[in-house]
Amino acid sequence: MELTRYGFLLLLLHTMRAVTALEKKIIVSKPGENTTLSCIYQGRKLHLKNLRVYWQIDDDKEECTVVHALISGQDNESKQCIHFKNRTQLFWDRLEDGDFSLLLLNVSQSDEHTYKCIVLEKAGYTSMVHQEEVVLSLAAPV
Ligand SMILES: *[C@@H]1O[C@H](CO)[C@@H](O)[C@H](O)[C@H]1NC(C)=O
Ligand SMILES: *[C@@H]1O[C@H](CO)[C@@H](O)[C@H](O)[C@H]1NC(C)=O
Ligand SMILES: *[C@@H]1O[C@H](CO)[C@@H](O)[C@H](O)[C@H]1NC(C)=O
Repeated sequence: MELTRYGFLLLLLHTMRAVTALEKKIIVSKPGENTTLSCIYQGRKLHLKNLRVYWQIDDDKEECTVVHALISGQDNESKQCIHFKNRTQLFWDRLEDGDFSLLLLNVSQSDEHTYKCIVLEKAGYTSMVHQEEVVLSLAAPV
């Protein structure tokens, strides 16, 4: 009985991982281009002032992982990596509609990473609203 239940749990975890892997989008861009890393939540309407949006590099080996942060509805650059300074922008008019995509300017080979977008809502308590990963791949320079 216990064994069966454990087996089912393993299967479930395995399936979840497969789904997560499938959901990872790959975005291909060329050096010097501006590119949009997409992160879209199709749920209820959100209030800007309660939102926290973190874009980060999904790699523990990186020294600095903060690509962009929005706290209480405001951009917060205090922890942003120098590499991304002045190169990132959220789409302000779309945030409350659940579009947390990030515009990354002037991409280069060194921007090739898996990026993770994490959206939290602080309304009394803090809860995770959405999480998504995108892979940025640079086409070989011509
Ligand atoms: C950025 O966040 C830090 C704490 O995380 C806070 O002390 C600082 O005031 C914030 N800056 C802005 C411009 O919101
Ligand atoms: C970002 O832009 C500001 C204002 O335009 C400038 O003073 C600063 O040097 C820039 N930072 C980097 C790292 O490019
Ligand atoms: C774009 O990035 C490259 C380095 O990757 C830099 O040499 C160049 O000046 C940047 N261009 C602009 C317009 O910021």
